[in-house]
Amino acid sequence: MDKLESIQEEVKLDEAGKVALMQEIDQLRKEKNAVILAHYYQEPEIQDVADYVGDSLGLSQQAAKTEADMIVFAGVHFMAETAKILNPNKKVILPDLDAGCSLASSCPPESFGEFVKAHPDHVVVTYINCSAEIKALSDIVCTSSNALKIVNSIPKDRPIIFAPDKNLGKYVMKQTGREMLLWDGACVVHEAFSIDKLIEIHKSHPEAEIIAHPESEEHILQTANYIGSTSGMINYVKKYPEKEFIVATEAGILHQMQKDVPDVKLIPAPSHEDNTCACSECGYMKVNTLRKLYLCIKHERPEIDVPRTIRERALLPIERMLEISK
Ligand code: 13P
Ligand code: SF4
Repeated sequence: MDKLESIQEEVKLDEAGKVALMQEIDQLRKEKNAVILAHYYQEPEIQDVADYVGDSLGLSQQAAKTEADMIVFAGVHFMAETAKILNPNKKVILPDLDAGCSLASSCPPESFGEFVKAHPDHVVVTYINCSAEIKALSDIVCTSSNALKIVNSIPKDRPIIFAPDKNLGKYVMKQTGREMLLWDGACVVHEAFSIDKLIEIHKSHPEAEIIAHPESEEHILQTANYIGSTSGMINYVKKYPEKEFIVATEAGILHQMQKDVPDVKLIPAPSHEDNTCACSECGYMKVNTLRKLYLCIKHERPEIDVPRTIRERALLPIERMLEISK
């Protein structure tokens, strides 16, 4: 075991420790011809060491076109699975297999399969935040940045099932005017925002614009000046750098926003819980750490595997989404 490997997870890394790990990760990435794809909710150092940082659509587009031999996914399990479905012959690794998602676990394949069977005439649209088994039961996948486009692409006379996020589903229904059968799933992070505290904060920052992710509940979205995916929110802030923003999504996004627009004033939307950072963090995203990323790329594990029968059925709905999103 080398010196870096022996650093315990509980030990808070100082700046020098972080730099040493980042240098090693960079070296290993080059030696192994690996690409590091990271989501905006990852910790800042992971975002800084990644080859590409993006939202779920951007990450799947990168995974679809990469020429690297190995994909290191700094995100959650369903994202790495999507990369594996697109790249069955490449090794796809995730720093911690416990990086799950409350939306994905709210939609078990057996009950969803029965639900789909009970509505055979419906087009099945699934949000990318679901397992490979659920994608295999779908007609088309969407992300928060293309959900409106995907639903609008479905002929008006076809009924639609939308799963697993009921909040995104409700938002899409409102925007497109389409009735959809919604699965009862939700993101624990976006459902934790407190409307009362949000209104209080806005009172003390009346000039601030509220920007929100569509996984948030309707009463939060009703207050928002802009609603969009993580990339959409970053692009919106870049357009109005002189403004102040209350940001209703996972707090990891603040790192890239602040990097892109250094002087902008960002206020994380408050959650019900009284936590030390007064912001919302996704416990699943945050199980990945810089140290785990280093160990993962060094030992090339844990590896993502998707059984062939599921992988083959899940590919088409993802490819349909990528085609429409070009
Ligand atoms: P996007 O980055 O695609 O907006 O998704 C947010 C999210 O919750 C990912 O888990
Ligand atoms: Fe899942 Fe919500 Fe975490 Fe995204 S933020 S990974 S939707 S639990």
